[in-house]
Formats: sequence, structure tokens, C-alpha cells
Amino acid sequence: MKETSSYVISNIAYNVDKEIDRLKGQVDLFWDKEFLRYKQFGLKNKMSLVEFGSGPGFLTEKLLDSFTQLNITCVEIDELLVKFAKNHLRKQKKKCKIIEGSILNSSLPENSFDFAIVRLLIEHLPDPIDAIKEVYRILKPGGVAVFVDNDFEMHIRSYPHIPQLKNLYDAYCKKREDEGGHPLIGRYLPVLLNKAMFKSIDYEIICAHSSLIGDEPFSRSEGVGIPMKLVQDGYLDSKCLANLSINWRNMMKSEDHLMLRQLSMCSGIK
Ligand SMILES: C[S@@+](CC[C@H](N)C(=O)[O-])C[C@H]1O[C@@H](n2cnc3c(N)ncnc32)[C@H](O)[C@@H]1O
Repeated sequence: MKETSSYVISNIAYNVDKEIDRLKGQVDLFWDKEFLRYKQFGLKNKMSLVEFGSGPGFLTEKLLDSFTQLNITCVEIDELLVKFAKNHLRKQKKKCKIIEGSILNSSLPENSFDFAIVRLLIEHLPDPIDAIKEVYRILKPGGVAVFVDNDFEMHIRSYPHIPQLKNLYDAYCKKREDEGGHPLIGRYLPVLLNKAMFKSIDYEIICAHSSLIGDEPFSRSEGVGIPMKLVQDGYLDSKCLANLSINWRNMMKSEDHLMLRQLSMCSGIK
């Protein structure tokens, strides 16, 4: 299935396997705080849950491990990731159905799910509102949707400060926007859910901080794959990336260094 998205795993980074590992690191980085919010927004065991843009299935795995009687339907557009997820989640296949399809036209019946999670997907779509409306359509009345997205003006920050991170995120935003994405969408989520007729909208920014969880989860959720692709595609200067790498290593060696990163979470009820 072909549709426009600014996230195509075979294209966004230098190496697909490393990008899959990075996605795992990114799920792990936020999981504890994220899971608390899912529960706060109403997620309970035995619900029927749909996850759009489920990718390799790392979030699905965490959800099934935490709520053993959840019934999850995953809708993922990329054939390669559907295959990966089916293999990764093969032991859970009775509780988890993985469908190759698009959030823009899921073919799922309307009024059929208790809960929907859409994580790091609509920031990559040219018309996020169409995706939000499709999620509204397939939820039961009273069902809850949670959208989780980045806002790249509030991406990783560090101490000591690394000036080239701004160049990197500017280049990233330019590339994603050229491809039709919305890399600052995090802040707009409540406005978009309102437009799609969701009620009781709630919004949180969750934050991972290295002084609380250590450096390792940050190292696993970052990587040079996307920055190298930005250089290759002419969006980032190679000297800038080289200086960023030197400053990053020096930052990590600094005794009182720290890193923090945020994610927006927005929920609404149908
Ligand atoms: C950044 S990844 C996030 C994967 C996963 N949700 C996570 O948080 O780790 C974005 C995912 O959305 C998928 N995707 C992109 N466009 C899509 C669409 N129109 N419908 C469904 N999935 C889509 C991509 O293939 C990819 O797996």
C-alpha cells in the first residue's frame, strides 16, 4: 500500500535494523510515564484496543505484557514492519491481530473499539485531521483515543549545551515538512482533537530525564542513522554533524551532564 508519509523506515535513516532498534529504545525511554498516562486516560484490561502505525510492535508488546487480557488490533502501513511485528509478537498472536493498512482508510468497522493509541504517526502525515477523524469513526461512543507526538522545538536538550542540536532539529523539521510532515504537531494536538469533535480533551507533556533514568535509555533512543541521512540528502552540513558528535561525546564525559526529552500526549473521548 502506498501513501504519503514523512516516515518510511527504508528511507528515513541510514540503516533499517538500527532504526528498528532506535524505535525500541524510544518506547523504553518513555514507557513508565507513558503507561501511567494511558491508565489515567482510561485504559483497562480486557478492553478492545486499536494501535495505528504500530511499527515493529514494541509498544504493543509492552501493552500486552502489562494488561494480559487486552485485545489489540494493529494497523500498520509498511509491509516490512508488518512482517517484523508478526514475527516479534508471534507468541501473543491470539491476543493481537496485525493488519497491513492505513490510518487514513482503515476499513475497520465504525463504533468498534474501546481505546485507540496513535503514537508518533500523525506528525508524519500531510493531513493529520483526516487520520484523527478516522480514529473517531472506529471508536465506540465513550471510547478514548490517545495521540502521542513530538514537537521538535522541544526535542533533546542537554547540559552542557550542544549548539549543533538546533541545526540538527532545524534540518530534520525542514526535511519532514518537505515530505508533508508536521514535526511541531505536539503542541497542536488539543486543537486538532477539538476539530475532530472529541470531548473531554486532556493534554500532558511527559519528560524523560537522564539524571533520573540514566544515560543508557537516551543512547538507545538516539543514533546517527537519521542525522547521516539528513547529510546524505543535503539538509545538514557534514561538518556540523561532525562537531555535534564531538560535542555529544564531550557532554557525556562531563561529570554533571544531563539530557532531557519530551513527548506530547493528548486524549479525547468520542
Ligand atoms: C515513527 S514510527 C512509530 C512506530 C510506533 N508507533 C512507535 O511508537 O514506536 C511511525 C509508524 O507509522 C507508520 N505509518 C506511516 N504512515 C502510516 C499510515 N498512513 N497508516 C498507518 N501507519 C503508518 C510507519 O510505517 C511507522 O511504522
